[in-house]
Amino acid sequence: MAAVTLSELTKVYPNGFEAVTDLSLSLADGEFLVLVGPSGCGKSTALRMIAGLEKITSGDLFVGERRLNDVAPKDRDIAMVFQNYALYPQMTVADNIAFPLRLRKVRKTERNEQVRQAARVLELTDYLERKPAQLSGGQRQRVAMGRAIVRRPELFLMDEPLSNLDAKLRVQMRADIAGIQREFGVTTFYVTHDQVEAMTMGDRVAVIKDGLLQQVDTPEDLYARPANAFVAAFIGSPSMNLYEATLSRADEPDGDCLLTLGDQRVTVPASVIAAQPALAEYLGRPVVVGIRPEHLEDAAVATEHPDDQRIDAVVDVREALGAETLVHFNLNAQAVDSGDPDALDEMRDTGRCTARFAAATRARVGDRIRVNVDVRHLRFFDRHSHEAIAAAAS
Ligand SMILES: Nc1ncnc2c1ncn2[C@@H]1O[C@H](COP(=O)(O)OP(=O)(O)O)[C@@H](O)[C@H]1O
Ligand SMILES: [Mg+2]
Repeated sequence: MAAVTLSELTKVYPNGFEAVTDLSLSLADGEFLVLVGPSGCGKSTALRMIAGLEKITSGDLFVGERRLNDVAPKDRDIAMVFQNYALYPQMTVADNIAFPLRLRKVRKTERNEQVRQAARVLELTDYLERKPAQLSGGQRQRVAMGRAIVRRPELFLMDEPLSNLDAKLRVQMRADIAGIQREFGVTTFYVTHDQVEAMTMGDRVAVIKDGLLQQVDTPEDLYARPANAFVAAFIGSPSMNLYEATLSRADEPDGDCLLTLGDQRVTVPASVIAAQPALAEYLGRPVVVGIRPEHLEDAAVATEHPDDQRIDAVVDVREALGAETLVHFNLNAQAVDSGDPDALDEMRDTGRCTARFAAATRARVGDRIRVNVDVRHLRFFDRHSHEAIAAAAS
């Protein structure tokens, strides 16, 4: 176990392509850090530099006190679990798990004890004498974890280890891996493109795009205070709605502001503006406003809401999910491309603005409805840089 520091790690491939740029991250001893981003953004490259499978072009890698840049992979005290966990088909589960210990010439009694202990945590005790072919996908994945765990490495690296499993098993394994990691307390660097996986598993989550780190935070802070429009759209499902808008001082003397969104206006009370001091500079200027789907509610369901904090909408698509109903409608305002391809597609395909209404909503396709906007939770971004405006002040 060890703390891990990545200091301005950069990877330029031989063809000149820069896949990772100045990546700086610190993992505390025992921490579970998830690196998440769209496909092709440099996640595996970063992980492979840590493993020693790709040469670091520039920057420094420390595990504990040791600088590992030029240490061969086999001399790094690191264990990896991949998407394609290669188990030895002719060996039993017990022998598969014990394999790294055998390589290290650990004595048989100790080997057996370690395998037994790992099997208990991994819930594989009843399967130790089976061959991999007689196991389910999830069990095989746990055997691969077991093989990594018994080595007691300083650091675990996992590259999308769940992407070959079906959806239900994936949910179970997320919890299992997080639990196993806690039990053993091994510092873990986990890579995935799946933001739900990242949010549910990580102590902290690092978001990367085009080889550039966007934000590192706890899942809660990442969701509540995204550093820029990309993170705002990438984290959370359905995505945050992002529009070009203008914020201006209302005529009244009480300091309230008006958010102009296409041809509609929403009052943003002075107290909300005061809570985000950096907004003062943006009054009268174009901004990007972010509205999470759960901060929009059917006015017919939630009747207690100031009428000047509502917008009009015509229901375009309705998806009743049981516990809630997703309602999509068009806002006559310019949607913003956050740089997350999935998020923009979602906006295009489904009528752009997505709201998560309580299941009690009676809104049907074609209905003209009023929608409550929970203005306390609006996020604002600079129109040009797409950086969060609130974050700039702190
Ligand atoms: N050996 C290589 N030579 C050149 N480019 C590469 C090489 N390996 C990966 N890349 C490119 O680097 C980028 C990042 O790849 P990768 O780290 O595998 O992304 P991710 O794991 O986030 O999907 C991609 O654009 C990929 O095409
Ligand atoms: Mg990858």
